[in-house]
Amino acid sequence: MSLYRNSAWFLKGVTEFTKNAFISASKRFVEKDLEVSMAGRSFMITGANSGIGRATAMAIAKKGGTVHMVCRNKDKAEEARADIVKESGNKEIFVHILDLSETKKVWEFAESFKRKYKSLNVLINNAGCIMSQREENTEGLEKSFASNVLGVYILTKSLIALLEKSAEPRVVTVSSGGMLVQKLRTGNLQTDRGRYDGAMVYAQNKVREKPRFRQSKVREEPRFRQSKVREEPRFRQSKVREEPRFRQSKVREEPRFRQSKVREEPRFRQSKVREEPRFRQSKVREEPRFRQSKRQQVVITEQLAKNHLNIHFSVMHPGWVDTPAVANAMPEFHSSMRESLRTPEQGADTAVWLAVSHAAATMPSGHFYQDRKMVSAHLPLAWTRSSSLEEQKFMFSLEDLAKSHQPH
Ligand SMILES: NC(=O)c1ccc[n+]([C@@H]2O[C@H](COP(=O)([O-])OP(=O)(O)OC[C@H]3O[C@@H](n4cnc5c(N)ncnc54)[C@H](OP(=O)(O)O)[C@@H]3O)[C@@H](O)[C@H]2O)c1
Repeated sequence: MSLYRNSAWFLKGVTEFTKNAFISASKRFVEKDLEVSMAGRSFMITGANSGIGRATAMAIAKKGGTVHMVCRNKDKAEEARADIVKESGNKEIFVHILDLSETKKVWEFAESFKRKYKSLNVLINNAGCIMSQREENTEGLEKSFASNVLGVYILTKSLIALLEKSAEPRVVTVSSGGMLVQKLRTGNLQTDRGRYDGAMVYAQNKVREKPRFRQSKVREEPRFRQSKVREEPRFRQSKVREEPRFRQSKVREEPRFRQSKVREEPRFRQSKVREEPRFRQSKVREEPRFRQSKRQQVVITEQLAKNHLNIHFSVMHPGWVDTPAVANAMPEFHSSMRESLRTPEQGADTAVWLAVSHAAATMPSGHFYQDRKMVSAHLPLAWTRSSSLEEQKFMFSLEDLAKSHQPH
């Protein structure tokens, strides 16, 4: 299943997540959708100082919206704010300092925002991180879970009352297509220690990208290794030789990708899998956690949409975008795919569309989007769907955890 999931995801990625895929998809975009004034409407955007969040803030500022930039670093935030004000001519841009990984601070920030502002039309949960190693926040919660899941949940839940008082409220969450290889995990939300660890490493191996998949199989399952190591070149052959249309469009369009993946993969494997255990450790342990957090964001969106019918909820994948997060957390992927990565503006396009367009508001609430289109949050036959009981259990656990960290 993991080989299937990863292969299906990777093929989907090179076909749908690249810059060329955006250019191709944009041919069906309706230009008028974004020709709207946002004057009088207010937007909160987390992680608005960089990458997709900054591009989203800039686009909305240019449409006259009031923008509340929620960022963790004051210097970076002020610098981005100055650029946005200068380029957009819009002075209604405000900086709020919040580290979303600090759970109690998220509660406090939301409460103080509600006291100070009378309305908020749109919340854009964009901030996200892939931690290079396991870290805990000051409350002992694992940081990537605290930022990507619990922080998003608390901020959203706390602001619902304010959103509901405002006209045409929306919540847009920037998830990731990486979640397509993950099934929702309902217990041990922080994936931290103890009994779960062994299973976690197993699960991590199951969802790793190809080179890492091979590494886990080579070391852990000798019999499986025999079959898989021998079958993989055949898999590659089949993908490169048996799909002429795919080859025509993708392999030829992305020579650097081809170089790196088809020809340099053994070298990559040699260096990364055998010579850099620390790299392996961090990537093996952290990336599945990131992808799981992105799956959890999808489920949170679906569940909140069911309970808050006055708010339009959506969750989206921006594609593969050239941002500091990708360059820092996935340097090999970044350097081999650089020419094929989307610009931050292209990555932000669907988030902006979901936040401002009339067309998006007419779509059903609680769904997953890619390139201005509602798409499935599951790969076909990948067994990533969870039952409604599992989803309820996850939401209860999240609510419990959120409440237990609420300041009194
Ligand atoms: N780039 C891609 O290919 C891609 C693909 C799928 C999904 N995404 C998602 O897109 C979103 C934006 O990421 P990006 O690619 O634009 O990366 P980015 O340029 O590095 O931006 C990430 C933003 O999130 C902020 N942030 C991270 N942790 C935070 C925390 N604990 N509290 C407050 N702010 C925090 C960062 O602040 P600092 O600047 O201070 O670090 C930064 O402003 C993320 O949710 C990411 O998972 C990106």
